[in-house]
Amino acid sequence: MTVQLTLFNSKMEVFKTIKSLQQTLSHKVGKSTLGLVPTMGALHEGHLSIVKRAKEENDLVIVSIFVNPTQFDKKEDFVNYPSTMQADLEALEATGCDFVFVPSAEEVYQGNLSADSFDFGGLDKVMEGKFRLDHFDGVATIVKKLFLITRPNKAYFGEKDYQQLMIIKKMVEMESIPVEIVPVGIFREKDGLAMSSRNIRLTAEQRLAAPEIYQTLLKSKMLFENNDLKKVKNFVKNEFVQNKELALEYFEIADSETLNPASEILPESKYRAFIAVFAGQIRLIDNIALN
Ligand code: PAF
Repeated sequence: MTVQLTLFNSKMEVFKTIKSLQQTLSHKVGKSTLGLVPTMGALHEGHLSIVKRAKEENDLVIVSIFVNPTQFDKKEDFVNYPSTMQADLEALEATGCDFVFVPSAEEVYQGNLSADSFDFGGLDKVMEGKFRLDHFDGVATIVKKLFLITRPNKAYFGEKDYQQLMIIKKMVEMESIPVEIVPVGIFREKDGLAMSSRNIRLTAEQRLAAPEIYQTLLKSKMLFENNDLKKVKNFVKNEFVQNKELALEYFEIADSETLNPASEILPESKYRAFIAVFAGQIRLIDNIALN
C-alpha cells in the first residue's frame, strides 16, 4: 500500500508495508543502484545532507523512518523520542529522495518484538554497549531487517554514532550481506554541538551549555598530543564537575578499529575520544579522531 500524504505533485513514494515497498522496488530498481539511509525520523540538516550525498552516489535513494523499540534500554527514552513525520516527509521530498519506508513495529517485527543476539567480538562491550544494555543487538537486528527488505547497494551511517557504525560493518561482514557501508562525518551546529534529533528536546539553558561537549573534545585532542591518558581523562572529568546543566556519563579513549579502551598509546594505532553526557534526561553523545 502506498501511503497518501499531504504532499502534492510529489514523485517521492511512501510505503508502510514491506510487500508494497518490495513490489515497487522490484519494478523500479532493476539495474539502477539503490542507496539506503536508515533513520529514526525527527530529521535535521545532518540527515538531509546524508540523503543528498546518497542521491549523488546512487540512481535511487530510500530513507527509512522507524523508531526501533528493541534498541532502547529505557522505555521513557523510546516514548519521548521526537516525531516530526510530516515535516520529515516534506524535507525529504525537497532532497529528491525517491522512496520512504515508514513501517509500524508490527510490520517489521511480525509479532516477535525482540532483538537477535549477535557476537560482535567485543565491539559492543564498551562505551555505549556498557551503558545501554542490549542496545547494539537491537540496532543490528533492525538494520539487518532493513537491508534484507530493501537490498541496497550502499547504506549510509553517521560517524556521530561511531560505535554503531563499526558494529554495523561487523554485522554485514558476519552475515555476508552484500552492501557497502558508507561512513558520513559528523554534522555540527555553528557552535559545534553535534546535530542530533534529541537536540530539539533540550531546554534553552541546556542548549546553551551543550556546545561544551565538543569544546571539551577539542581540548582533549590537544592534550592528547603531549600528555598521558590519565591526565586527559582527569581533565575531561573536571570540566563537567561544576557544570549545572551537563553531567558526564563517560569519556573514553579507544582504538578506532577495535574500540578497545586504550591503556597505552601505540604510535602506529589510531585513536578516538568518545563522550556521553546527560543534559537532564537527554543523553547526548559525540566523538573525535585524536590522531
Ligand atoms: O542511528 C540511528 O538513527 C538508528 O540507530 C538506526 C541506525 C536508524 C537504527 O534504528
